[in-house]
Parts: sequence; structure tokens; C-alpha cells
Amino acid sequence: MRVALLDLDEQYRSLEGEIRAQIEEVLASQRFILGPNGAAFEKAVATYCGAPHAIGVSSGTDALLAVLMALEIGPGDAVITSAYSFFATAGCIARVGATPIFVDIDPATFNLSPAALGSYIDKRCQRDASGELRGENGRPIRAIIPVHLFGLCCDMDAIHVISEKYNLDVIEDAAQAIGAEYLTAHMGLRKAGTMGEAGCFSFYPSKNLGAAGDAGLVVCRDETLANRLRICRQHGMEPRYHHHFIGGNFRLDEIQAAILGVKLPHLDGWSAARRAAADFYRDEFKRRSLIGKITLPAEPYRERGLTNHHIYHQYVIRTPRRDELREHLAGREIETAIYYPLGLPEQKCFDYLDYKRGDFPEAERAARETLALPIYPEISSEAQSHVVNSIAEFFK
Ligand SMILES: Cc1ncc(COP(=O)(O)O)c(C=O)c1O
Repeated sequence: MRVALLDLDEQYRSLEGEIRAQIEEVLASQRFILGPNGAAFEKAVATYCGAPHAIGVSSGTDALLAVLMALEIGPGDAVITSAYSFFATAGCIARVGATPIFVDIDPATFNLSPAALGSYIDKRCQRDASGELRGENGRPIRAIIPVHLFGLCCDMDAIHVISEKYNLDVIEDAAQAIGAEYLTAHMGLRKAGTMGEAGCFSFYPSKNLGAAGDAGLVVCRDETLANRLRICRQHGMEPRYHHHFIGGNFRLDEIQAAILGVKLPHLDGWSAARRAAADFYRDEFKRRSLIGKITLPAEPYRERGLTNHHIYHQYVIRTPRRDELREHLAGREIETAIYYPLGLPEQKCFDYLDYKRGDFPEAERAARETLALPIYPEISSEAQSHVVNSIAEFFK
């Protein structure tokens, strides 16, 4: 039995009529950029997330880039982020001319470790006379970008304590986590993206809420930042052909917005189905006594009364025998993926940052041991059983 890592066919078939009708409408209107569909989608996401402002952009990467630009983070500045994420998180910091500073991850959740963050600041940073935090080489540290990896929120309370203490902006990379919830100490239940200055989402087709191409969105609290982001996504232009600062072409197009608008009402149902699939894996791995041979995804917020305590954008297990297991599963026609085979500090393009092997032991171990198993809302229990049986067979 062939099991795909992700199969979007059934989801599309269930909405095909509505999606095609929306596309036809956009084509008939001949309005393709920054039109009514974009505005309606922004409003719907703002309501869904509980955020005062939402600004549609062209991708998750551009969401991060636009926020950094709008906050005027640039050359000479430094931004702290996780050593283990998709490249865009760090690439955007470098693209605005700032220096990425990496911090190791929590081995249970794969998210930025608040303990490692605190220890980095205590050991390697200083406050200048004005109270501003400065990293090595005296660079002012402007922001932290926590990444809610695989659909699980970072420990935002602990990050908040540190960001408040040092007056750092928090830009959430929520590309993989739309709808994921966290119970904050000071704001109650919050959705991913709404706990810092800004939250960035990706609607890359494979995401829980996926477009038919590239698309992204930023949510934020502050109206001034929201206005700057709206200007930033149009080359810093306001009014037409008058440019206040340098932005980019980060606009969300109408066809993507219309498709996303059809899908958004289904998002929670899809995330619940992914969670049910994760429960199936958990129960079956337990029943087959595989815990210990493989480590299952942590669910630190499960007992906190949250619905979307995890949205399982990916179901990532770990085992020191990862590569052998992956090959075995491929032989059983089961697709898997490695997110990610290298930590960010080890990427060739960051050689100039002079990190060395061993600086981020947990990110490095995760890169060696993690394996993403097939998960999507419509995955059948037969397909999942084939995955579990094949893993049991491997460890027999
Ligand atoms: C954690 C993370 N950040 C940023 C991005 C960038 O999003 P996009 O591919 O829409 O540019 C992604 C998407 O793959 C991601 O997973």
C-alpha cells in the first residue's frame, strides 16, 4: 500500500465547485491585486486569530521580511531566532542586513528553548547605558523570532518574560501554526501569531491552510505597524508613486485570497482531523510497545483545556536509527520527510557567522534523528496502520 506524506486530492475534491466558482468570479471582475477578496480574507483571519489587524502578503517569507522592514530592523542590528527551522526564518534576518543569532531548541518540542535563550543573554550579552541589549560585537539586539514549529506553539510565557525584561520585539514565525493555541499567563488563551508584536503566516499549498500557489499574511496589534506593513507591501508607497521607505512587492493576489477564503472555515475541522490522526499513531505506537524505540511528538499543552493545543502540521518522531528507518519505510512505499537535515547555523550561507559544530547540540541531534510521518486530515486508518506495522517490523 502506497502512503503519501501529504495528499490534498480529497480536500480539493470536496471544495472544487466552490473554489472554481470563486476563481471564475475573480476572472470576471478582472481585479487581481488588492481587491475585495483580499480585504475579506484579511478580515476573516483577523477575526479567526483574535488579532486587531491582518495584512495579506505574497508568502510567509515576505511576511517575515515585511515585518522586519516595517520595524526598521537592518544593518548593524541583531535578531535572535531558533537554530532549527525552515530557512526563511533566518534568511529574512540576513536579507535585511541584520545578523541572525541562533539559540538552541528544546529537545522535546523542537521549539526555541527559553532556557537556552536566557543563558545566551546572561553569558554573551550586555546592556548599554540606555538599557538596550547588545550582543557580541556590540550589536543591538532588536527582536526575537520564535518559530512555532510543526504546529506547536513555543513556550511563549517564558519568552515573554525575557522579551519584556530586555525590551525586545517578538515576531512570531507562525508559518506552520495557524490556529494553534497557547494559554498565556497574562492574556489568557491566544492563537499563534497574536502573542508578540506581529505574527507571520504562510499559506504555501502544503500548509494546514494552503493556497493554490504562494501566499502569506501578517497579524499585529499596533495600528501604526499595520499601516506601515500595508505601505511596505507596496514598495513603501503612499500615496501612489510617493515612496516613504523601501519596501517590496509583497502583495497578496485576489485568486489566492478567494481560494483561501473558501478554505478558512474548514481549517479547524482539518486541524482536528490531523490531531485525531496523531492520536491514532500515539495509541497504536503505545499498543505495539514502540515508545522508547521512537520518541513521539510532545504535547505539553494537551491537558490545559485547549482545543488546538497542537495542529500537527507535521507529525515528527525521532530515533537515532532515523536514516535506516526511512529507507525501510520507503521500501514499504511509505513517504517520509526530514525537516530539517541541517540546523540553520550549519547552512553554508551562514559560514560567515563562524558557528562551529557542537554549538547547538539539540538542533544538531534533531537534524540527525527527526522523521516526519504521513499526516493529513483525510489519511485513512489503513494507511496509518501500514505505517505503524512497518515501523514495528523495523524494530522487531
Ligand atoms: C517556519 C517557516 N517559516 C517561514 C516559511 C516561509 O513561508 P513561505 O514558503 O510561504 O515563503 C515557512 C514555509 O515553508 C516555514 O515553514
